[in-house]
Amino acid sequence: MARPSFQAAPGTRDLLSPDTDRWRLFTALFAEEAARAGFGQIVPPMFEDAGVFTRLGEASDVVSKELYDFEDKGGRRIALRPEFTASVCRAYAQNRQLTPWKTWYVGSAFRYDKPQKGRYRQFDQVGAEVIGSHDPDLDIELIALASRFYERVGLTTTQGQPNSVTLMLNSLGDKADRPAYLAALQSHFQANLGELSEQSAKTLELNPLRVLDSKRREDAELVAAAPILSDFISDEAGAAFERVQAGLAALNIPFTIAPRLVRGLDYYTRTTFEFAATSLDAAQNAVGGGGRYDGLVADLGGPDEPGVGFALGIDRTLLACDEASVFAAPDTAVDVWVVSTTGDLDGLAITDELRRAGLRVDRSFDHRSMKAQMKAANRSGAAVAVIVGDDEAAAGTVSVRSMRSDRQSDDRPQFEISRSEMVGPIKELLLP
Ligand code: HAM
Repeated sequence: MARPSFQAAPGTRDLLSPDTDRWRLFTALFAEEAARAGFGQIVPPMFEDAGVFTRLGEASDVVSKELYDFEDKGGRRIALRPEFTASVCRAYAQNRQLTPWKTWYVGSAFRYDKPQKGRYRQFDQVGAEVIGSHDPDLDIELIALASRFYERVGLTTTQGQPNSVTLMLNSLGDKADRPAYLAALQSHFQANLGELSEQSAKTLELNPLRVLDSKRREDAELVAAAPILSDFISDEAGAAFERVQAGLAALNIPFTIAPRLVRGLDYYTRTTFEFAATSLDAAQNAVGGGGRYDGLVADLGGPDEPGVGFALGIDRTLLACDEASVFAAPDTAVDVWVVSTTGDLDGLAITDELRRAGLRVDRSFDHRSMKAQMKAANRSGAAVAVIVGDDEAAAGTVSVRSMRSDRQSDDRPQFEISRSEMVGPIKELLLP
């Protein structure tokens, strides 16, 4: 009988080294930026009661079409998290922290989306949230955190470069501002219903705001002519939006006002923003986004505390980096390759000793010939080979050879040294 053969499920991928090394560096840099800004990490569960996520809005694709939900063996309706914000709010409601509660996260999210480049069913996000303050300075702080982080991976919010990310900014006003605007939107689209795509006509019944998010070509003209929310927002929400703009200008973070930016989730109020990478195709160029969600914590059974945050898509941001030729994978070569032909335990012991001295060390196995081991040392990219044959073993020495590719091979230092004193000189050879 033929053995079964398996592939990773559609929309999922194996990340392998050196991509994983880059992933780790990326998340470490984010952790560092978040810690600098006073955020502590949260590790929420990967799945929750599906109700936690249906609060994100029945009219959003994320909930209506893309939720990975199922009944568990105990008959509970469970969903894999499609994002972290709802989990963070649920966690706050459950664990009440001092406010403003500043927390960041990294991990996978799951959406049953149509897989394509930059769009996966399992993808990773880093993000940050603040619960418990209306202060628009926090909106600015979060946008600054995202922008400074982009800079660290070689992307810039300055426009016109191949490595640019455009920060698009809007205010959705307060919940109380919504009815008048929704009515205006309804009448705009209703008056031109025949010109609207079938899908958007359906969305219009559920949530007219979402129609503004339509990327369908047939809707473009009507969407562009739609009334804009900023004409309907309260003085208070307007003043907060002014403050956000002034703050970004003071921090020299360029932005573009995008009056029809509504984003793909329904919980947003006041400030909303999105980062679009110049180097990616328009359909998948959103490398991050966020905004305020005053009301979500209360919706999830907590006190009526406001919230604001963002999430960056790791997969997509790294694609943008690739396209812009920035943030290459770090060098993962080992420092030292141990070559042993004694057939004894020397290779094993020397490798262990050098690793305990803090070096990155690897070796050949299976009792290969000296020639094969030297070839492996070369291929490994190690800067130093440490060689032990019968003569060295008998004399208690090792031969040390620099393998650095920036030198001619006959110009590379090689010397024999006492094994008990090998670490210092090897470390010296590793200096840049
Ligand atoms: P979002 O815009 O749905 O927002 O997702 C944030 C980022 O995750 C997107 O900009 C994109 O880079 C990435 N992303 C989303 N879906 C996929 C996918 N299928 N494949 C690859 N990458 C994807 C949120 O998730 C909100 N929770 C952000 C937020 C935090 N708002 C307030 N706080």
